[in-house]
Amino acid sequence: MKIKKGIPLIDQHDKNYMYGGKFGGNFIPETLKKPIDDLTKLFVKLRKDKKFLKERDYHFKNYIGVPTPFIKLENLTEHLGGAQIYAKVVSEANGGAHKIYNATVHCLIAKRAGKKFIVGDTGAGYAGKMLSMAAKKFGLKCKIFMGAKDIKRQRPNVEAIKKNGAQIVPVTSGSQTLVDAVSECMRYWVSNNDKVHNCIGSTVGPNIFIKICAWSTAQISRELMIQVKEEFGKIPKKMKLLNCVGGGSSAMGFWNEFMDTDAEFIGIEAGGPKNSKLHAAPLTNGSKIGVLHGAAQYVVQNKEGQISPTESISAGLDYPGISPLHCFLKDAKRARYTSATDEEALHAFKIVSKLENISPSLEPSHAFAEAIKIAPKLSKEKILICNSCGDSQKDSDIIKKRLGAYKR
Ligand SMILES: Cc1ncc(COP(=O)(O)O)c(C=O)c1O
Repeated sequence: MKIKKGIPLIDQHDKNYMYGGKFGGNFIPETLKKPIDDLTKLFVKLRKDKKFLKERDYHFKNYIGVPTPFIKLENLTEHLGGAQIYAKVVSEANGGAHKIYNATVHCLIAKRAGKKFIVGDTGAGYAGKMLSMAAKKFGLKCKIFMGAKDIKRQRPNVEAIKKNGAQIVPVTSGSQTLVDAVSECMRYWVSNNDKVHNCIGSTVGPNIFIKICAWSTAQISRELMIQVKEEFGKIPKKMKLLNCVGGGSSAMGFWNEFMDTDAEFIGIEAGGPKNSKLHAAPLTNGSKIGVLHGAAQYVVQNKEGQISPTESISAGLDYPGISPLHCFLKDAKRARYTSATDEEALHAFKIVSKLENISPSLEPSHAFAEAIKIAPKLSKEKILICNSCGDSQKDSDIIKKRLGAYKR
């Protein structure tokens, strides 16, 4: 399996939308064939439409507030005494996380499609918060599907969704987390696609949703490329780009522009509680391929091929599958994947927020945990960049409970 140079990763599929012949595809019910075909045709057109690109860039700049900062974490670097650590502070984007890119683009597409109603799934609540924000801005009615367990543990984002005027549909089936929210949202879309646009919140689902999401978050690495060249005069040799992976959208956005360089990509999955067999890390733990939400991918599953329960302190990473794009990157050996436990992520949050003026949510804290692990073993010339893709405010209850206090 090989990644081709000079071709966007999202387009490196065969006629059945499979990446590396094994991952992705459109495993969808007959009733979704037409809406998915229509959306695919519209996106093919819009991707090349200068007016649409201008509109996207205008909103990225004036609504999302790009570029987000790229900063050196001087204190953390000194504390660890090895590689130089930097952060791309994507949590400074409007709303506090990278999910705003995909949400904004989906609202713009929905408007072009003549739809007045948009639905979406959410785990950590950021995809829901951002979709409700963007829907409000662009005058669309909005409904968010969220697992009942996540509604309880991500209170600040739930409040934000309601404040933005969106309806929250609590999902009480299965594990009551992101996987069930995506399923329920897809089910709703199957029955209502004539009037409703669906925004899947990560690089998962039928191919068109993977493409739109990765295409939207790619903004992160377009900025980073410029910022890195400004900071170092060139792309440092074997620079390491560390990103947490749930469905995989922030990592895809963070890595995209660097695909044809020698930058190393490290994806960090949710290892779950330290003393538990439960996790949400299909790539790290050698899970088998299965079909989830319309696409073939590595999935946490039992011997019979049924999806197994997952567990993670971070709702955004608590998902049994992983984007087919990441499965492709793994099998092509373009990216390396590992995991961090709940405890390692909490520890990383504590150190980073104590030493630096950033406050990563529990998802990116997994990436910082890996930086904390590897930086002391690397020479001072090596550059590590972590994507601080979400703000910790949403995790204030969990952090208070686990660490005794929450300080930004
Ligand atoms: C802040 C943050 N980071 C990471 C993730 C994981 O999703 P993805 O892998 O699609 O970036 C989420 C998901 O909700 C999130 O809110």
